Amino acid sequence: VWSTVPAGPPDPILGVTEAFKADKDPRKINLGVGAYRDENGKPYVLNAVKKAEETLAKQNPDKEYLPITGLPEFTASAAKLAYGADSVPLKEGRVAVTQSISGTGALRIGGAFLGRFYPHVKTIYLPVPSWGNHTPIFRDSGLEVKGYRYFDKKTVGLDFEGLKEDLRAAPEKAIVLLHACAHNPTGVDPTPEQWKEISDIIKEKQLFPFFDMAYQGFASGNTTRDAFAVRYFVEQGHQVAVSQSFAKNMGLYGERVGAFSLVTSSPEERARVDSQLKIVIRPMYSNPPLHGARIASTILRDEQLYGLWESEVKHMADRIIQMRDRLYDNLVSQNTPGEWNHIKKQIGMFSFTGLTQPQTKALAEKAHIYMTADGRISMAGLNGKNIDYFSESVSKAVKG
Ligand code: LMR
Repeated sequence: VWSTVPAGPPDPILGVTEAFKADKDPRKINLGVGAYRDENGKPYVLNAVKKAEETLAKQNPDKEYLPITGLPEFTASAAKLAYGADSVPLKEGRVAVTQSISGTGALRIGGAFLGRFYPHVKTIYLPVPSWGNHTPIFRDSGLEVKGYRYFDKKTVGLDFEGLKEDLRAAPEKAIVLLHACAHNPTGVDPTPEQWKEISDIIKEKQLFPFFDMAYQGFASGNTTRDAFAVRYFVEQGHQVAVSQSFAKNMGLYGERVGAFSLVTSSPEERARVDSQLKIVIRPMYSNPPLHGARIASTILRDEQLYGLWESEVKHMADRIIQMRDRLYDNLVSQNTPGEWNHIKKQIGMFSFTGLTQPQTKALAEKAHIYMTADGRISMAGLNGKNIDYFSESVSKAVKG
């Protein structure tokens, strides 16, 4: 039956983990997938998460189905985290929000909803480059996918002029995907002043802003600061869509905890949107998983656990910044050809190193160091024990 099914390529990000697992060399390092590792290179379960699980175990909760749009306490707290406690549309009951299978699921629900109901041009503009999964998610949701300039290889920074030109040239009312903070894969974010200009262009052209917020807290170590763009756009009257993930900031990767929300113009409109979100979700997976949403909502609703969580997010963000400094110092002291300042300037979990495809290939084959083919490294995979080996190997690869 399946003789005509062609073999597909490995996933550009998760395929790296497969290659890493198959490598038996003790020096191997996985800098592919964006998953936090502690100082010993081990996955890190946050203390706030452990404590929330203890609280939950004592409550001995049942395992009944959640409603289609998820745990109400969780969705309310997630929206508050994204939009802020003082958000006007939240207070006015104008934000439609649903739990999702992490950030990917949120983007997919959003894509499917827009594909079905967005009344204007069904084209979504993604930054170039963007997270590798964005294109298939939106294409499979029935949207046409195009790009706007974002990363400037020459300056290893934001191509702000290119970005503005491309957004101005996009058809009116097209959809624009924006990374709320800690842009993946480049680690390059607009400044607050640049966000304001982007907001003006989006308003002028009546574009529809869809924020992917997968790293709230990871950019600056502060969840409020990292929500600047989303909150500013909402203040400016944009009716945004927001996808949230709790994979990175709560370390809840495999629990698949996320949320998708849409700002609407009235509670009555919100109720209609809510009803259609349910109709989008029900045939996909019926209703979302319970445990992770309970953990996240316990943390978000308890003052002490919230404080502990914030300090742990900051700890993770700070450790990554330390690794950036050490990597930069090592590469410079080893006289590695090139300019390495961007390693320190970039924000969030990733560094877009500028390593070429042959160099990343050589690093995997000769040094057992794995990263995505575009030269992105997950900074969280570096630690005091492997950073010297990593820097020496990069230096060698660049010297050729
Ligand atoms: C990444 O970019 O590495 C993460 O968002 C994980 C994933 O699912 O790709």
